[in-house]
Amino acid sequence: MAKKNISLKLPKKKIPPPQLLRGMKDIYDQDQIWFQEIRKAVAVFARDFGFSRIDTPILEQHSLFVRAVGDQTDVVQKEMYAFVDQGGEHIAARPEATASIVRAYLEHGMLSKPQPVKLYYEGPMFRHERPQLGRYRQFFQFGFEALGDQHPVLDAEMILLGERLLASLGLKVVLQINSIGDENCRPQYTHILKSYFRTNKARLCADCQKRLLKNPLRVLDCKEPSCVGIAKDAPQTIDHLCTACKDHFVQVLEYLDELQIAYELNPRLVRGLDYYTKTVFEYWSDDERFRDKLALGGGGRYDRLAELLGGRTVPAVGMAPGFERIVLLLNELKTYEPKVYAPQVFVAPLGDQARKRALKVYDGLRAAGVRVAQNFSKDGLSSQLGMASKLQARFTLIIGQQEILDDTVMVRDMETSSQEVVDYGKIVGDIKKRLRKK
Ligand code: HAM
Repeated sequence: MAKKNISLKLPKKKIPPPQLLRGMKDIYDQDQIWFQEIRKAVAVFARDFGFSRIDTPILEQHSLFVRAVGDQTDVVQKEMYAFVDQGGEHIAARPEATASIVRAYLEHGMLSKPQPVKLYYEGPMFRHERPQLGRYRQFFQFGFEALGDQHPVLDAEMILLGERLLASLGLKVVLQINSIGDENCRPQYTHILKSYFRTNKARLCADCQKRLLKNPLRVLDCKEPSCVGIAKDAPQTIDHLCTACKDHFVQVLEYLDELQIAYELNPRLVRGLDYYTKTVFEYWSDDERFRDKLALGGGGRYDRLAELLGGRTVPAVGMAPGFERIVLLLNELKTYEPKVYAPQVFVAPLGDQARKRALKVYDGLRAAGVRVAQNFSKDGLSSQLGMASKLQARFTLIIGQQEILDDTVMVRDMETSSQEVVDYGKIVGDIKKRLRKK
């Protein structure tokens, strides 16, 4: 048989190693510990508030977001990762997940389930934004959505859930809230807003001059200094709400008062996504350094979104905070220490034969539920003991030539440095007994 040449082909010229894409981030070390903490909190709060998990695909039809988020939004116009796939389909990497949740709700007939249907999710979202503090092109969100119920108590429950969850991570937030009305009162408000901005048109940025025609609400959350100045004195939505929207908003605020959740009314809070109706809110850090810089999460009611996607009316409310911004604050404020579990036992073999036995001991302890660590490629005793104490293991099991001959294991108490010989066959039971005593 002819011998195959399986040599690894290396490039002739040295080429630079691949790098992260701009605006993307690897999550490892301390950040990964925080991510796990957040995930744990999300799972606990989801259980306590009665939300079940849903995972939707990262890739969706491009048109889903155009219809849901709105074709006049920055997210759709400037920030989508969109492409045509091999089959000629127009695809987008999700910039957010609410649209996907409503799509799934409609597609799987969740209307026939008891309402509200309460779903939560977490995962990466994609927006081609200009990277800056707490702003990435791939970022992670967790989100909670309650679909199929229009009662204002759900808005309050959603706000409560987010506030308590962030507080459980040691983060105090400032809650900003507003109501942007619905299809009854919004058109009239938009008309009034348009005339106001028209009188100041020359001072608006080029983007806002365009927005003015199609979606004047977007001018209210433009970050350009000249637009901010004009928006400051603009007519406010809450002065133009219809009776139903006003009642709804008043009730939400009453529930928040009852729960003693402080809020700031922000008449310019309109959110960057077009699907909202009535209540909109955001959580901001209360720390002075980040107060106006980092929205930790946002949400609101989106009673018409299902219809925008061609379904029946499905009133709904939800919110989604971002992992990276939470982690940024956790790293900066240090208000909270994640619990790190030290290994209980470190296994230290001396030499090749011992290593084989150590592997079995390691596997046996692990299977018995003991937190066990090792660094088997090392041979020296002192380096292994050094690592065991660095990891704060309570016992080190030393297996050398003598222990192999005697069929034993040496158990070293890392606190007292005392050592005891234990039969190899009894080691798992012995360690469990010692750990119970400590
Ligand atoms: P959003 O305000 O676009 O809302 O995003 C929510 C949160 O995601 C933000 O407050 C922020 O923490 C995080 N986030 C957004 N963009 C970035 C970025 N480029 N880099 C890092 N973090 C970011 C939504 O996405 C809605 N779907 C929320 C919602 C759920 N509304 C109703 N239900």
